[in-house]
Amino acid sequence: MALAHTRIYGQDSPLQVLPNHRGYKAYIETYGCQMNFADSELVASLLHQEGYSFTTEVEEADLILINTCAIREHAEEKIWQRLRYLENLKARRPHLMVGVIGCMAERLRQRLFEESPVVDLVIGPDSYRHLPQLIRQVESGAKAIHTLLSREETYADIAPLRLSPNKVSAYISIMRGCNNMCTFCIVPFTRGRERSRPHQSILQEAIQLSEAGYQEITLLGQNVDSYNDQGLRFAQLLRLVAEAVPNVWIRFATSHPKDMLDEVLETLASYPNLTPYIHLPIQSGSNRILARMNRGYTVEWYLDRIAAIRRYLPQAVISTDIIVGFCGETEEDFQETLQAMKAAAFDSGYYFMYSERPGTLAARRYKDDVPLEVKKERLEAVIALGQQLSLESNRREIGKVHSVLLEKVSRRSANDLTGRTFHGKAVVVRNSAHTYKPGDKVQARIVEATSATLIGEIADARALGVH
Ligand code: 5AD
Ligand code: SF4
Repeated sequence: MALAHTRIYGQDSPLQVLPNHRGYKAYIETYGCQMNFADSELVASLLHQEGYSFTTEVEEADLILINTCAIREHAEEKIWQRLRYLENLKARRPHLMVGVIGCMAERLRQRLFEESPVVDLVIGPDSYRHLPQLIRQVESGAKAIHTLLSREETYADIAPLRLSPNKVSAYISIMRGCNNMCTFCIVPFTRGRERSRPHQSILQEAIQLSEAGYQEITLLGQNVDSYNDQGLRFAQLLRLVAEAVPNVWIRFATSHPKDMLDEVLETLASYPNLTPYIHLPIQSGSNRILARMNRGYTVEWYLDRIAAIRRYLPQAVISTDIIVGFCGETEEDFQETLQAMKAAAFDSGYYFMYSERPGTLAARRYKDDVPLEVKKERLEAVIALGQQLSLESNRREIGKVHSVLLEKVSRRSANDLTGRTFHGKAVVVRNSAHTYKPGDKVQARIVEATSATLIGEIADARALGVH
């Protein structure tokens, strides 16, 4: 493999080795959660410093990094499939370097080398700083791995390289890791202990994004409500960000029902650029199952949090995550989940069948005893109810006028733009005269709704009450 170094002999500095991968192309493919997408931008920034440029064509890459997810077995199966495809590619491009990074890298470590001959590089979520030296190790003919988790790493000093062609919205990661130990979850093992990024660097990044024209920022953490930068908590962080970039819409995810304080809701209600969209995973509607999951709340507590959200933020859009078929879940437990969904009147949700992850507390403590067929039936029932609730929620928007941030031209029609309302619902806005472009904030009147999206038209002056 070609080794590309430039040696610089400084006047008073001893020998320095400057990495030089100019002319080399990197391709990064990202799976999993928003946090992974944010991490890929950190990794891109490190590669850029090394001289790499980026390609969206996997076939022409010199370096391919797959940023992986380990949350369910299915997520990992997709990666194995992708690696098999890359084996063919490597047969044609022998100098190609392939790295597996992220949560699956952290979980499987050496096993990735053992089970896939195409993998040269394995890097866990806290080891991205070592990327340049690991690349050099591979170039010198060895496989390279770094999967040590850290208690401090927040990458606060690395400015992410924004990869998405959409220059409208961006992620800022505000913390890493998770201390919650939900029994089903692999994340504490793949992303390590929770740590908060210093607020100054978050504010700096928000200001830079705003100056670069970004209109929307999403603050990311596994559990944003436990953000704690030497006593500065999430509500204060929200306030600081809202004031630092008053023209940018601020979103955040994910909230945890056990930690979500009224103070955060009060803060959301008092700044016009803090969006009332709350992703609040319930996971199950049965107290017995919630206890087995070690979620730290009851259904009653959860519904009280929903009531609090609706009290402070009557416009709030609330989404959730639900797992069906967790260990020991009976039909009665499951019926309680359906009831809780109705009681919470979720606007939208993400629904999953339980997938046992080796090494988690649930895998050690309980039997994965709900048959696959039953899991499938329950998933279907949850999806059906979820869609019905979403449709009802979206239909309530018909006739209303919403502020909408336009994000991109619709894939279906060049006459439509897609975007989100201030409160976080997906909208297609008719733009037949091509007057508007991605990045514009418009007022749109909702004229139609499906369970997945709203359809809007640009509101005229009368609709806005402007004469
Ligand atoms: N099986 C199924 N779903 C899971 N999730 C987390 N771990 C598992 C698992 N082992 C779901 C949870 C979480 C979302 C990101 O993924 O609902 O909130
Ligand atoms: Fe994100 Fe969890 Fe998947 Fe890791 S395992 S990528 S933290 S969803």
